[in-house]
Amino acid sequence: MRILLIASSAREHAIAETLSRSRYKPEIVAFCTTKNPGIAALASRLEVGNILDFKRMTDIAEEIKPDFVIVGPDDPIGNGAADILSELGIPSVAPKKSLARIESSKGFTRDLMKKYMIGASPKFKVFSRIAHSVGALSEEKKSLYSYIADELGGEFVVKYDALKGGKGVKVSGEHLASVEEGVDYAIECLDECGRVVIEEKLVGVEFSLLSFVSGTQVCDMPAIQDHKRAFESDTGPNTGGMGTYSDADHSLPFLAKNDLDLAKAINCRVAEALLQECDEPYKGILYGGFMAVKDGIRVIEYNARFGDPEALNILPLLETDFVDICQAIIDGKLTDDLVRFAKKATVCKYITPRSYPTAKEEKGQPVTFPNIPTTARVYYGDINQSDDGSLHLGGSRTAGIVGIGETLEEAEHTAQSLCEKVQGPVRFRKDIGTSQLIHQRVLTLKQLRS
Ligand code: AMP
Ligand code: GLY
Repeated sequence: MRILLIASSAREHAIAETLSRSRYKPEIVAFCTTKNPGIAALASRLEVGNILDFKRMTDIAEEIKPDFVIVGPDDPIGNGAADILSELGIPSVAPKKSLARIESSKGFTRDLMKKYMIGASPKFKVFSRIAHSVGALSEEKKSLYSYIADELGGEFVVKYDALKGGKGVKVSGEHLASVEEGVDYAIECLDECGRVVIEEKLVGVEFSLLSFVSGTQVCDMPAIQDHKRAFESDTGPNTGGMGTYSDADHSLPFLAKNDLDLAKAINCRVAEALLQECDEPYKGILYGGFMAVKDGIRVIEYNARFGDPEALNILPLLETDFVDICQAIIDGKLTDDLVRFAKKATVCKYITPRSYPTAKEEKGQPVTFPNIPTTARVYYGDINQSDDGSLHLGGSRTAGIVGIGETLEEAEHTAQSLCEKVQGPVRFRKDIGTSQLIHQRVLTLKQLRS
């Protein structure tokens, strides 16, 4: 068994580790953006390069003839890595390009959910560039202004309609101070990619539900809460995610049973809608980003891959064989008995350089990790290893430290005490997974719903 892993971050370190636990003992060959020391230690070969260079990717694939390929990051998935590999007769655990529009086009997702009457969307409208003519720009501005101000009452979100490294979404009151600023950003989006989604700003508590999907076969993973803001108490700029937690019952303390049941049903219906719309089964990970609101739940977005850090919480809990799951996704034989997770709580805290995400001042400086007990994991992200074995910071997220326990309190305590022992010019969010923060989430939703 040989597997090619396309990788860019700690998420794929977690994937490689989960593969290495398989009874098939697969040989892992990795094609990575950097020489990730975690993946390097598990792979028989690691090639560093531009993972959007599909010629290089297919050269490696043709040479090693893998049983299948796992594509981790959004860019190669959105650009059609699975289509190109499929032409060579090599299957992928990743959806094809047209299906991956569920992540690469926010407009496609909103339109799909509307067409198949899935509900759970905020009020929205997709705007397309009007053909250039005299007055077209002022026409565009006028209709954007009127939708934002009149239809949405000035509480709005503007979404770039293509992949933008997680930086395409701007929210009123956070990134956009006025309707005019919203209109300007929407015009910028139209200039760059021809389409923009404007939607109602939702108020509530966010959570993620990821599912393994093969066509209409859907097996869910534990629900997770991510923390995108850089600093404690959810302040500062957005990041790739500073940490995540999941509870031992595979739900989250603020969710009602009905919220999670609805999220599961929505993931199923989206998988079905994708099959009908694209005439092709979705094969990979479907990541639903939801918000629990005053009267139920809404879909914020979909991703076509594992989340980072979500994968760091989820994969260490997998008790069944990941290779069996991948094979079943490819063969259309995905059943519930193939997917079982330990009933444990997890808390992941990301170690980052001190000046992340605004600067990269600490790049190249050494960092050391404490010994990691069996109740924890460390997954390496943007970190480099010298020939003498020492580790050095990159500019982005360094490593996710995951505590695993019977309760959230225990998992948080483990993650926190390990994070405190990391030496180097780094920081992490102390509040993620703490009782205080979780209590706040419970209270917020309770108040919204009372
Ligand atoms: P996305 O890239 O779609 O995940 O959006 C990034 C972040 O923007 C989400 O995690 C939310 O915090 C926020 N966001 C997106 N859509 C909405 C919405 N309709 N209402 C409120 N916040 C939103
Ligand atoms: N944790 C957010 C993401 O992977 O998109």
